[in-house]
Amino acid sequence: METLIFNGSPRSNGDTAALLTAAKQRLKGEIRQIDVFGAKISPCTDCRRCRREEGCHIQDEMQEVYAAIARSDRLLVAAPVWFGALPGPLLTLASRLQCCFHARQFRGEQIFFGKKGGVILTAGGSGGLETACFSAVIMLRQMGAEGPVPLAASRQTDRLPAAKDVQALAEVEELARFLNE
Ligand SMILES: Cc1cc2nc3c(=O)[nH]c(=O)nc-3n(C[C@H](O)[C@H](O)[C@H](O)COP(=O)(O)O)c2cc1C
Repeated sequence: METLIFNGSPRSNGDTAALLTAAKQRLKGEIRQIDVFGAKISPCTDCRRCRREEGCHIQDEMQEVYAAIARSDRLLVAAPVWFGALPGPLLTLASRLQCCFHARQFRGEQIFFGKKGGVILTAGGSGGLETACFSAVIMLRQMGAEGPVPLAASRQTDRLPAAKDVQALAEVEELARFLNE
């Protein structure tokens, strides 16, 4: 089994990283992590080629991500909430999943399916988890996640760092249990 993690935080020792460390300690099997802030991935240009042709014609690191998605059984999107949404680089990567939607919508192909997904979010206390979570779930669905998608969240990192947020850590444990089943 392989879990593919999308890390949407630029802070390698930040709140999202703390919850991801806890998740990785519990997840069984192989783990691969994509740190979107370091990735050289361009946004979708809506050229619509993928309505007719397989894959995406933009040749960048996203091509490796498509291959990693295909190999994975479980998917985990982890990110801080930024202005009530997911951070830009994660949304840039997400935009390149449009070819998955087009494969289904215009060519009748089911390219990714049968995976499990989960979401980890951190937020500094001003909120906005709903929209961020909604976008993360859309990402996961495009990558083939089916069924329920649990959320583990540290909601007030301005007052309580995620590493010390007992409730959030318990949610991460539950999420890992779900993904391991
Ligand atoms: C550009 C930016 C925008 C943010 N917007 C929000 C927000 O809308 N709601 C919120 O609760 N926290 C917001 N925050 C706070 C972060 O979500 C919070 O500090 C988070 O724990 C950071 O996680 P990290 O250490 O993994 O990067 C924002 C932080 C930044 C840098």
